[in-house]
Amino acid sequence: MNGKRILLIIGGGIAAYKSLDLVRRLRERGAVVRVVLTAGACQFITPLAASVLSGQEALTELFDPAREARGANGANEANEANEANGGIEANGENGANEVNESAIGHIGLSRAADVVVVAPATANLIAKMAHGLADDLASAVLLARDKPLLIAPAMNVRMWEHPATRRNLAQVIADGAKVIGPEEGAMACGEWGPGRMAAVETIVEAVASCLSERGAEPSPRVGQNDENGERRHNDHALRRVETLSGGGALGGRHVLVTAGPTIEPIDPVRYIANRSSGRQGYAIARAAQALGAHTTLVTGPTQLTPPRGVEVVAVETAQEMLEAVEARLAQLPADIAVFAAAVADWRPASPPKDKIKKGPDAAPPRLALVENPDILATIARLPTGRRPTLVIGFAAETSDVVENAQKKRRAKGADWIVANDVSPERGVFGGARNTVHLVTEEGVEDWPELSKDEVAHRLMALASAELGHHRGGQAQAERRAEKQAKPRGKQRAAE
Ligand code: C5P
Repeated sequence: MNGKRILLIIGGGIAAYKSLDLVRRLRERGAVVRVVLTAGACQFITPLAASVLSGQEALTELFDPAREARGANGANEANEANEANGGIEANGENGANEVNESAIGHIGLSRAADVVVVAPATANLIAKMAHGLADDLASAVLLARDKPLLIAPAMNVRMWEHPATRRNLAQVIADGAKVIGPEEGAMACGEWGPGRMAAVETIVEAVASCLSERGAEPSPRVGQNDENGERRHNDHALRRVETLSGGGALGGRHVLVTAGPTIEPIDPVRYIANRSSGRQGYAIARAAQALGAHTTLVTGPTQLTPPRGVEVVAVETAQEMLEAVEARLAQLPADIAVFAAAVADWRPASPPKDKIKKGPDAAPPRLALVENPDILATIARLPTGRRPTLVIGFAAETSDVVENAQKKRRAKGADWIVANDVSPERGVFGGARNTVHLVTEEGVEDWPELSKDEVAHRLMALASAELGHHRGGQAQAERRAEKQAKPRGKQRAAE
């Protein structure tokens, strides 16, 4: 990277302090770094610190009357020569950086750089990039840029997972940006999940690889069409986000989810059903897919729209649901299996081929019921290799919610049980919100009331972390220690 010119835009997030170290590391590798700070960044770090570390004045303002006046008067003799490089200049003879103050407007800054780096890229900056806003120096430079762009997102996990951020990021990628991170871990706000800015060394390596690729790839790829001549769809870009963003994502994983009720025929016309809407299971499938997992949703009949990008297998009865789950797992073993379906416990023993007739003399039919297979227990007891790494069940209870869920976890051999109170007054069935307790071997977490989407995202973020621990061969003790350091919810004693 010797002599390469890097324009570093620092956004307004707590990770901004790490970007000062990034400036040092890039300069150690011989790069010339010019820093632009957003107003938000100036809340976390000072332009002075950025100027000292970069050896050039850090810029913050889109409009600078003094600078414009100097430029208009031709006060700086080096003006013409420096116009081409926009003021990013390697060290002069005396070791100081020579900067032409008149030529560092938002257009010149990008022209002068070999690569533009945004670190941290906040949700707001990403949104501005996606929409082409240019109301401050950073966003104006980004809109005017003609050089490769590397962004290192950093934000609260909820902001990162919000559909608006996913859409915006997909657009930014479709427009040619490369994304590095975020990484998963404890966040400054006390939450946990993907959202931490990539490590400084990782960003330095990504910058180096961007610089070595330069020329091979046109940038920005504005309005690029696919092979059918159609504008590339955001979903495509979104999949790339997941691949590129890596940390915390479920990229390369298979998540299988059951959802909805099952219906059990009494005869060809009538059936036994339950009140499950399928909303929680569908939300989990969406969350898994959004984190990059290949997601299979085995669903009983619901009124819901099948989530995009998810493989949906529609079934009706418990027996069909079990067969569908077993068949899918035989084809593609799952890393995570979530059994959110409200499977009917019993089914009519032998539904007749024809409709049961009622008549003035006919007594009401007596339904003989037989027990349905327990899908969760069947899958949880599969031998290692065929059993999903993490098996998560649900427990819908109307009394002694946690105690019953703890018993259920042990009885069925599940790793985790998400327990919820489905008393009618709670409005969980068919409703948009849920209050759950996560029951694991280590204890119980009482989660606050959340939307079903939030429950889903939280669950998948935790599950993804759990897989990380499995992958690293680290003991559950580590997870326990982490939990003790940063409790995610009210933590109860172990079972
Ligand atoms: O026994 P109960 O129905 O309360 O258990 C709930 C959990 O077990 C849920 O995760 C549900 O999807 C799963 N289950 C199942 N097959 C059944 C019954 C329940 O997978 N036959």
